[in-house]
Amino acid sequence: MVQRIYLIGFMGAGKSTVGRELSVQLKWPLFDTDAEIEKSENLSVAEIFARFGESRFRELEREHLARLSRIPKGVIALGGGAFVDPENRKIIEATGVAVWLDASLSSIRERVRPDGSRPLLSAGEQLERLYDTRLSFYKLAPVHILTDNRLPDAIAREIIGKVAMS
Ligand code: S3P
Repeated sequence: MVQRIYLIGFMGAGKSTVGRELSVQLKWPLFDTDAEIEKSENLSVAEIFARFGESRFRELEREHLARLSRIPKGVIALGGGAFVDPENRKIIEATGVAVWLDASLSSIRERVRPDGSRPLLSAGEQLERLYDTRLSFYKLAPVHILTDNRLPDAIAREIIGKVAMS
């Protein structure tokens, strides 16, 4: 029986929104690594990147993921870069199921605003290039869900159906 569902995917794929819906439908608690990091550091993700650099953020992300992987059960929404790290993938595989929320680049473009809250978008990083690099990692997840033009509640129901069988 699966105890933890890890939501992975690109920025703006809907990990937090679908996570909320999934946690309601399953009656499982919801965790979000970005929010956990911000709470423990008392700084926003953008501030952590600006003050200490991306490598410190990744270190915090690994620590929080390792901690959350020990909760008895839950829905865990990860930041878009977490699944790139092989150590993180190992933890996820050993403790639950990774579900990739697959969203097209055009739908991502509509959803993410360059408002400064996502440092990798405002650092001049090219969205398309980053998206292409990330895809090869996301595809490693055992469960893939297409999300374009679909409502969170339908996506959550599909996840529950697929995870129950995985
Ligand atoms: C990142 C995605 C962000 C956040 C950080 C880095 C990434 O999370 O963890 O800005 O590397 O893709 P969201 O995917 O929730 O926006």
